[in-house]
Amino acid sequence: MAVGIFDSGLGGLTVLGAIEARLPDLPVVYLGDNANAPYGVRTADDIHALTKRHVEYLWANGCDLVILACNTASAAALRRMQEAGVPKGKRVLGVFVPLIEALTERQWGDNSPPREVAIKHVALFATPTTVSSRAFQRELAFRAIGVDVEAQSCGGVVDAIEEGDMILAEALVRSHVDALRRKMPEPQAAVLGCTHYPLLEEAFRAALGPEVTVFSQPALVADSLADYVARRPEMVGEGAERRTLTTGDAARVSDRATQFLRRPIRFEKV
Ligand code: DGL
Repeated sequence: MAVGIFDSGLGGLTVLGAIEARLPDLPVVYLGDNANAPYGVRTADDIHALTKRHVEYLWANGCDLVILACNTASAAALRRMQEAGVPKGKRVLGVFVPLIEALTERQWGDNSPPREVAIKHVALFATPTTVSSRAFQRELAFRAIGVDVEAQSCGGVVDAIEEGDMILAEALVRSHVDALRRKMPEPQAAVLGCTHYPLLEEAFRAALGPEVTVFSQPALVADSLADYVARRPEMVGEGAERRTLTTGDAARVSDRATQFLRRPIRFEKV
């Protein structure tokens, strides 16, 4: 009886933190598949199978609505799961749409034809699987015309975060920003297209410089969820249970999560 939030590992905590700040009374169950992270270097079939299994677990355990707080899972599994049909009364939503609506200055659910928008040159930073799926460009093309997207596949960053090696993660961010700039010297906007990356938002901002507008998902997803639950309160259900679950080593994940969220957080092993 809660909203389920799923990520491959620790990245979804950035979304969880924003949801807790925006909707402090919302019961939330977080599930991180730390045992199988990172997803961003796996095949689409593999990511689909893992995502489906964990979303079904959350559905079976009282979460009618599950948010994929993971771009890689959203890119590789969401459409396939929705097209295969979800059980009656259950929903699964991804994290791309709120981000792209913000980038294209649209209100929720504005399905009018694609149009010109102010931002013309966008740098996308994401995992290798998200980049190769081109899901971001596809969703953008439904809403905007004339936007040039240069995608940078940020190999190694999620592994470094999951290992707690933030010095390596920051060095990788600088080198991925340099690589992007060689392809697109002057992006107007940068999209942090992986929910792990807000943990490195300062490093991205420092490397990109003040003239680049950075779009980061957590607050956008939290706003969009607030809007959704106001329109569909029945999807939250009753009860106030909050849980944080992992497929990995609960003590290790709890330590990293406590460090990232800057408050004590205890994970249970599923
Ligand atoms: N946090 C996930 C995302 O948003 C990432 C990744 C992974 O496990 O590679 O893409």
